[in-house]
Parts: sequence; C-alpha cells; structure tokens
Amino acid sequence: MTPAASETRIVRVDPQRPDRESIRAAADVIIARGLVAIPTETVYGLAADALNASAVARIFVAKGRPPTNPVIVHVSDEAAATELVSRWPMEASRLADRFWPGPLTLVLPRSPRVPDVVTAGLPTVALRVPAHRVAAELIAAAERPLAAPSANPSTRLSPTAVEHVLSGLAGRIDLVLDGGPTAGGIESTVLDLSSERPRILRPGPIARSALEDLIGPIEPVAARVAGDAPMPSPGMMSRHYAPRARLVCVEQDADKRVAELVRRGLRVGWLSFAEPVDSGPGVIAIQMPRAAVAYAARLYATLHELDAQSVEWIVAELPPDSEEWHAIRDRLRRASTDE
Ligand code: TXA
Ligand code: MG
Repeated sequence: MTPAASETRIVRVDPQRPDRESIRAAADVIIARGLVAIPTETVYGLAADALNASAVARIFVAKGRPPTNPVIVHVSDEAAATELVSRWPMEASRLADRFWPGPLTLVLPRSPRVPDVVTAGLPTVALRVPAHRVAAELIAAAERPLAAPSANPSTRLSPTAVEHVLSGLAGRIDLVLDGGPTAGGIESTVLDLSSERPRILRPGPIARSALEDLIGPIEPVAARVAGDAPMPSPGMMSRHYAPRARLVCVEQDADKRVAELVRRGLRVGWLSFAEPVDSGPGVIAIQMPRAAVAYAARLYATLHELDAQSVEWIVAELPPDSEEWHAIRDRLRRASTDE
C-alpha cells in the first residue's frame, strides 16, 4: 500500500466551470492510487479509484472507517453503473432516468469486478451518479469509477466545506478540490433494490414518495440496530454523523432545556426556529431556516461551527414530523446522545 499522505494539496476550482488543469491534477492522483477530496451536490466525498483495492483501502485508513462499512461508488452515467452490477432491474432504470445525476444511491447485486474492500464483502454495491460538475469531470478525466464516502473521520459529521475536510483529514489525504460549500448539505438517499422489496436504507434529499411514484411501494427506513444485531446497512449504526458536543433533540420547550443546561454551568448551542432571544452568556442561539431544503444546506455547517466554538451541549428543536423533514429529523436523531 502507498504510505499515507503527509501533505495535503489544496486546489481551488470553480464549482460551475472547473478548469481542465485542476481536474487533470486530481485525476493523476486518482490514477496513482491516491486520495482526493471532492465536492458533490450533497457533501464532500473522499475519492479513490473504485476498481483498485489498495487505493480504496487507503480511504478506510484515512477515515479510520471500520472495514465492515461499505462505500458508495460514483459513476458517470447509467451505462457505467450497469457494468458494476450483476442485475439492473427495470426499477433501477426508471429511477436513474429520473434522478441521475443526483442525490440518489442505488444498492444492487454487485459484479465480480467490484473489489471486496468497496462492498465490505457484501454481495451488493451502492452506486450513484453525482450532479456536481467537479465530481462528474473528475470521473470523466480519471476514466474510472470513484469510491467515495463522505470526507470526514469515521462517525464524525460530514463535511460541507473544505475547512471541515481539512479539520478532520489534513495530512491524511493527497489533494482537496476546493469548490466552495456544497449546496445540498446532507447525504444522498440510499435505496436498496437488491432484495425482494425496495427499501430505504438512509433517508435523504429525495423523498420516499417521489421514489414510490416511479416504482411503487417501498419499505420505510430500516430501523436502526443496536449492538450485534445484523445491520441492513452498515452505516445505520445509531450514533453517526455526530458533532463533538453532546446533542439533544427536543420537540418543545427548548428554552427550558437550554436554561437548565446553563444553570449547570455548561456552554450551550441552540438550533432554534424562532428569532434568538438574549439567553445570556454561555448560550449561542442560532436561528435555523424554516424550509427543509435551506435547513439541510445549513445543518452540518452549523454543527461544525458550534464544535469550533467548543460548546458542550447542543439543543436542537425538532422540525415537524412530515415527509420533507424526514431526512433532517433522521440526522438530528443520529447526532444525538440520548438514544
Ligand atoms: O451523498 C452521499 O451519499 C455522499 C457523497 C460523497 O456521495 N457519500 C456518503 O457516503 O455519504 P458514506 O460512505 O458516508 O455513506 C454511505 C452509506 C453508508 O451508510 C453505507 O453503509 C451505505 O451507504 N452503503 C454503501 N454500500 C452499501 C451496500 N452495498 N449495502 C448497503 N449499504 C451500503
Ligand atoms: Mg459518511
């Protein structure tokens, strides 16, 4: 295996019109089995040549990711996806036609071409076509699929900006393509099409009902599993996507919860929907957007900011229990300490 990188190059790119030289430089790193952090329309990913087992193994080392958690493979189009699977059902075609490029990951029976390290030995592979120009052009220039989990140390928050990537992985990866903050802010919807009934493994920007419109009934999100129970998706481990601070989700009376923590002498961050009132020293109150798409774009950046300000607790007001907020409620719950 290539030794771990010691210096991380940062290359600025225009997210709409990445220049050819920057993309070429990144493609050369990929071809040399190195690691490149790239912006996607959801979060930053940590990319390596998906067909090279030793390159992908470096992703796991850099992130401290357990080898039992498989990574998503990013491809240029539906045709490239079909080369990595043993079966491409009608449902996959319909969904790819409608939602690719975009934040939908499909899990399908894998082809033997996909290295074991990518799928964590599972008989399936997760695939998506990213919509971000930088990601798309890198796949094209490298002329190979890219394995790319989110570019953060395992179990930490996903990065939505280059500062987040560097705070977790500087010195552990070869290059970062800095395309500015990512637009979507939360990770893709993961849909399992490998078993009898389609099943959502991770809710995300594309809602279940939008998928059902095209392919019929889908099982709801797999329940999170604790301890040694078999996991439908290894990434469903309950505490995941977590800030350093302890986070608690509240349905109501957030102000009381905040006051209680402050009385105990703790520094508190407060994700609120209302305009912040002066809660005194020790409280950083942040007014979050009332629209789900805008909230998603801000969520991780806000949690990263609160971590940087060393708050000890974060009180997050839960958004409504409606479909458009589903993925955000999921991420808030997974970031929380109380379950
Ligand atoms: O938006 C995204 O999906 C971002 C960008 C970079 O594309 N990627 C991302 O990757 O969030 P990661 O590795 O952080 O999350 C991938 C999720 C994990 O929950 C993993 O367990 C699941 O997909 N997954 C990957 N391959 C799988 C498979 N073969 N079967 C079931 N779940 C799988
Ligand atoms: Mg991740």
